[in-house]
Amino acid sequence: MEEMKFSTDELLESQAHVWYLLFGYLKSMCLKSTLELGIADALKKHGKAMNLSELASSLSIPPSKVQSFGRFMGTLVHLELFATKQDNSGNIKYLLTPMSHLLVKDEMNITPFLRLLLDPFMCDSSHVLGPWFKSPKDTPFELYFGKRVWDVADEKPEFNTMFNEGMASDSLLVGDVVMMTCRDVFKGLKSLVDVGGGTGNMARAIAHASPETKCTVLDLPHVVDTLKGDSLVEFVGGDMFVSVPQANAVLLKWILHDWNDEECVKILQRCREAIPSKEEGGKIIIIDMVVGVTTDKHAYAIETQLLFDLLMMSLVSGKERNESEWKKIISAAGFTDYKITPFLGLRSVIELYP
Ligand SMILES: C[S@@+](CC[C@H](N)C(=O)[O-])C[C@H]1O[C@@H](n2cnc3c(N)ncnc32)[C@H](O)[C@@H]1O
Repeated sequence: MEEMKFSTDELLESQAHVWYLLFGYLKSMCLKSTLELGIADALKKHGKAMNLSELASSLSIPPSKVQSFGRFMGTLVHLELFATKQDNSGNIKYLLTPMSHLLVKDEMNITPFLRLLLDPFMCDSSHVLGPWFKSPKDTPFELYFGKRVWDVADEKPEFNTMFNEGMASDSLLVGDVVMMTCRDVFKGLKSLVDVGGGTGNMARAIAHASPETKCTVLDLPHVVDTLKGDSLVEFVGGDMFVSVPQANAVLLKWILHDWNDEECVKILQRCREAIPSKEEGGKIIIIDMVVGVTTDKHAYAIETQLLFDLLMMSLVSGKERNESEWKKIISAAGFTDYKITPFLGLRSVIELYP
């Protein structure tokens, strides 16, 4: 075989690029430490830009660590988690950015979802992604922990709570955005069942925005057993592979990416049995990624979708699908008509009609 020759410059650039990949985990740890220290909350509470010593003292960081903390903040600023400005005396002061705004408690807060994904249960199985390709196990998670994610959620109440809170925080954000930007998707629905709807935040956002829609959440008994329904949302414990409560429309938010094609077809078939014909207003509303379709113009948007796909491969036997992969499961489940609307950065709404 003819050997490829690379210039020294190319090799040095490539070494830098390999190091860039190598240190990806440190970016995750920067995010984790930012949450643990509560930096975004401290800046929000102060209400204006803070210099390093003010910020360190508000976080109870002792003087002996302030210099190291300054280096840490410098990297966070480079990563655009925080911004800086100079005061009149030339001192650097730190500010929130749109990214760290999302980390502030009690706002559009994505922290519970990040905490979940940074938990060892969610990260550790990625260490065995390579060996898993040669193992008989369904997922790297099962190879590493000897059980499925849903079994861990069932057995460990603290993980179950963290999982449900993580999902609920995402649904709070998505629920608001969907009802602001995609309200027509839910217009005129008499009833809707949110399949795998967790603790009900998404259903609640829909019921708030369109009170004429009777909303039900179907999820596994360990998720909904302790939840009380109210005038807005009713909870039903069950298994979406067995049956789905009857409704005008079914919502599947972040469900199908957890399952393989065969399982998705089964879920979609159960959902189809639960809704009336298209003429009578029946439809299925999916909120998930369509790989390659995004409203996000950043270069890293598609890369993030592909990394999400690897996460689904590591944790569950699911995947993030491109349009032709979606088309395959949609038609295998007997649907002929679908419409994709990219609405939320990396995710889309897919409407299916029976
Ligand atoms: C990724 S979470 C999504 C939760 C919610 N839809 C959201 O986006 O916030 C998947 C949900 O599916 C539920 N689930 C898993 N297997 C299920 C089954 N067989 N029947 C009903 N729900 C199930 C899980 O308990 C979990 O709440």
